[in-house]
Amino acid sequence: MQPRVLVTIPLPASALSLLEKHGTVTSVTGSPDDPRFGAALAEADGILISPRIRVDRDFLGRAPRLRAVSTYSVGLDHIDLAAARERAVAVAHTPVLTDTVADLTIALILALARRMPEAIRIGASPNWQATPMGIDLKGKTLLIVGFGRIGQEVARRALACKMKIAYFDQRAPDVPFEAAVRVPELSKGLAEADFVSLNVDLNASTRHLIGREALACMKPTAFLVNTSRGAVVDQKALTEALREGRIAGAALDVLEQEPPDASDPLLRMSNVIVVPHIGSATVETRQAMLDCALDNLITCLKGEPCRFAVTPQPTPARSAPKE
Ligand code: DGY
Repeated sequence: MQPRVLVTIPLPASALSLLEKHGTVTSVTGSPDDPRFGAALAEADGILISPRIRVDRDFLGRAPRLRAVSTYSVGLDHIDLAAARERAVAVAHTPVLTDTVADLTIALILALARRMPEAIRIGASPNWQATPMGIDLKGKTLLIVGFGRIGQEVARRALACKMKIAYFDQRAPDVPFEAAVRVPELSKGLAEADFVSLNVDLNASTRHLIGREALACMKPTAFLVNTSRGAVVDQKALTEALREGRIAGAALDVLEQEPPDASDPLLRMSNVIVVPHIGSATVETRQAMLDCALDNLITCLKGEPCRFAVTPQPTPARSAPKE
């Protein structure tokens, strides 16, 4: 009996036909509350999702046959991994976007330093004398919070801009990276930094890591860049800090609420750049993520070892449930 696969993201025809070679595919790209979604989930052996779909205990309870969750994202904060482990559901992700997110992080640092949104507006106006004076990156200190794959790639790029690199990492305190100095305490790193880049994943220990207290440690001339997850920053505290000039500016690829409410004051601040969660949004990387997510799903459904599984995979006996 072919496994049943629920696809919750729009897929190109080539991807659908690949999946159809390995299972019976149902596509429901609407809400998980849609009865069609519920019916397909109840039957599904595998599911392809994006961070839009929250896989919690309740969701897993609606999917008694489920044994593989493939997410089209590197982030896993939308999945209750403990619940998946208990249910012996394999979860796999797509950590193939490292360079792309690091590129965007540097683009945002440069955009803040050189006041690019303002410069673009002035460039399109007749008022070219209103030169927006920026600052150099050379010699400035970049604190990277979270020194995993992406954090280290940000460091490599920032070194090319002649920045000094410091990093704070709760999980991997001793990363062998000669040109970067580890700071043992976040508050100390924040106090020294000209730019702070957040490159952690979102979990219980990083939720609101940058709140009122952390922001108070930063210099009034310092900038915050977030390309990780919105909830790593307490957005209310950030809004206050920016409004009161306690930090110089921020560039945000991610927000606590996406898309933001039109009334969100961050959207109207001249020292804030907001972009619509485009960290991985290049043609090449989105294709690589899709290939990876499809391969993860097929591999997990076959019960074969999956390189990007983050929970133990079901044993072959568990992986072939009887009708
Ligand atoms: C990821 O892959 O986690 C990116 O943030 C896109 O969601």
